[in-house]
Formats: sequence, C-alpha cells, structure tokens
Amino acid sequence: MRPVWDLANPQLRDLAVYQPGKPIEETARELGCAADEIIKLASNENPLGPSPKAVAAMRAALNSAHLYPDGGGFYLRDALAAQIGCGGDEIILGSGSNEVIEFLGHAFLNPGDEIVASQHAFVVYKLIAKVFGARTIEAPASEYGHDLDAMADAITPRTRIVFIANPNNPTGTLVRQDAIDRFMARVPERVIVCLDEAYYEYVDDPPDTLQFVRAGRNVVVLRTFSKIYGLANLRVGYGIAPSALIAVLQKARQPFNVNGIGQAAAVAALADEAHREETKRVTDNGRAYLQEQFAAMGLPFIPSSGNFVLVNVGDGAAVFREMLQRRIIIRAMKGYALSEWVRISIGTMEQNRACVGALADVLKLANA
Ligand SMILES: Cc1ncc(COP(=O)(O)O)c(C=O)c1O
Repeated sequence: MRPVWDLANPQLRDLAVYQPGKPIEETARELGCAADEIIKLASNENPLGPSPKAVAAMRAALNSAHLYPDGGGFYLRDALAAQIGCGGDEIILGSGSNEVIEFLGHAFLNPGDEIVASQHAFVVYKLIAKVFGARTIEAPASEYGHDLDAMADAITPRTRIVFIANPNNPTGTLVRQDAIDRFMARVPERVIVCLDEAYYEYVDDPPDTLQFVRAGRNVVVLRTFSKIYGLANLRVGYGIAPSALIAVLQKARQPFNVNGIGQAAAVAALADEAHREETKRVTDNGRAYLQEQFAAMGLPFIPSSGNFVLVNVGDGAAVFREMLQRRIIIRAMKGYALSEWVRISIGTMEQNRACVGALADVLKLANA
C-alpha cells in the first residue's frame, strides 16, 4: 500500500505543526502539583479572565447548546459594526482571527503564489501560506520590528497578500501611522494587505487602519476576542474589510464556524467597558514593572506595545525548562529564530513578581 504521505498534498510534507503553549493541567501532571499552583504566562491571555458579564451570557447560552448557532453571527456583527462605525457586511467572524487568516489563504493563495511577512512575525501567516502551496518572502526586520519599506520592496508580481502584525507577536513592536501610510501609498492595488491587530486594544494611540477599509482598499483588519476580552478558549475573532472583499471571504467560511456560546460571550464582553479598562490598567502596570525589572537585571528586552514582553535570557530553551521546574510556564522562541529570547505574557502583579523572582533565581543558577 502507498504510504499516505504519497497521497497527501506535497506542500504538507515538510510543514511544521504549530506548537501551542503547554496546557496548565499537563504541566501540573508532569510536575506532580495542583493546576492552581502553576502560573501560565505563555499564550498572551488575559490574567483577569473573562468579563463576569460574558460568563453570565455563556451560562444562559448553554441552554441552547443543542441548537446550531446563528450561522451569520447577526448580533455579534451588529454589535461590532456599531462599536467600529462600519456596516455589518464589512465584518466576517472567524473561529479565532486565525481562521480569518485561513479564509485569506482559501480566497487568494494558489501554489506558486507568494506572501510577504516580516522576519520574527507571528508564525501562522507562513504556516497558512504553506498549506496553500504559497511561498513566504520574509522581509528583514529593523530593530526586531517590521520594516514596512523593506516589506514593500519584497513585493513581486507573484505577491498576493502582505501580512503586518501590529503590534507584532512575539516582539511587541508597533508600526506607526506614518510608516503605514507610506506603505499603503506604495502597495499595488492587486495585493491584499492584512493588518493583524490582535493586540489593538492595548495600544494607547493606535494607528487608524480602518480609513483604508473606508477608502475601499484591499485591506483586511483582523481583531480578536482572545486577548483583552479574555475569551481565547471560545475562539472568536473577526476581520473588517470593504464589503466586496468580505463577500469573497464569506465563500471560504463554513456555515457554523463560530459557536453560539462564543458569540453570546463576545456580545456581552464588548459591552463591558469596565473590564476592558481594568485589563488594560493591569497590563500597563505589569508591562512597566517587568520592563523595569529586566532593565535592573541587565537583560535586554524589546519595549512592548502588547500584553507580553520579549526578553533576552541567553538560552531561551534552558530558561524555559528551569522556569517550568519553578511552576511558571513562559514561551521559548526558537521557532521564531530568537533562541536567546523568551516571551513572557503579562500577568497579575502577583504573577509578575513571582515570575521575576524565579527568573532571577534561574539566571543566578545558570551563571554559577
Ligand atoms: C498577532 C496575532 N494574530 C492572531 C492571533 C490569533 O488569535 P486568535 O486566533 O485567538 O484570535 C494571535 C494569537 O496569539 C496573535 O498573536
């Protein structure tokens, strides 16, 4: 019998499978401790959890678990459209914003096509490109951030999509309005620009990218309920784009891609401004604390605009393992060609202090 790999699409053969952060329960089992003794600062989640209003909405929605969800996501798109100031037909919902990245692949990528992304950019762009047989052209980063001039230079006649993560994960870097405007003036109309704004709500003065949607450019702005809204488990994200582009992406969407419990939670979370503001306050304080401590420890770090900080610890994989022994899960960055670095998500102040204490301990041990 032929091995199944001979039957599979050839581009899948050497595709690396995305490595998610370790689940708390699994780590607890390995370390022989209770799950609540573990601090997880590995996946840029909200340390305060979901809004209590979202939890109440989820409880109510559980009673309808036997019914298929609203396939069009009517109430959620309506609520988003009202908040954003756009039409419901300018929004597509995804099972996480990752799924909208996949819609882009279905809609625009064929074998032999190219995408452009930055060095050290969020890894899912190149994974999805590969699934569709497209090549990723990686533009060199500047000071670990996106260099949009280099990205525009990397566009070829084969380029279909340019992905800009703003802020970027894992570097936390932000590209400013002037750089985006300059880039948008250079990018050809036939190229789709995906502005991935998963961490948008953490940014004090975010660039206005919706102006390009309003102007009818081939732009998709991605946002998510996984980060500041604390609903990562429910997988709800969305894309904002001109209605004609959304109509193309809708063709790639399965009818019930976003579950109803997630939709109900997202509508309630969107209305809970206080929870969002509190999360931002905790994150801002935590970021200032972590960056101050890293500076005091003499550890190079990248000033972050997200809810995480990338810090150079010498040997990221070794420090990850040592931190794990101390019951703290952080993220090693070898997959991003940043093997000296770890990414630490900002937690509650208590978690941040425990993390810094453990890190100081680990680095002293490593240096001894
Ligand atoms: C830059 C960026 N984009 C997109 C995502 C995907 O988020 P989700 O699929 O949970 O909406 C993440 C998650 O970490 C991210 O960091």
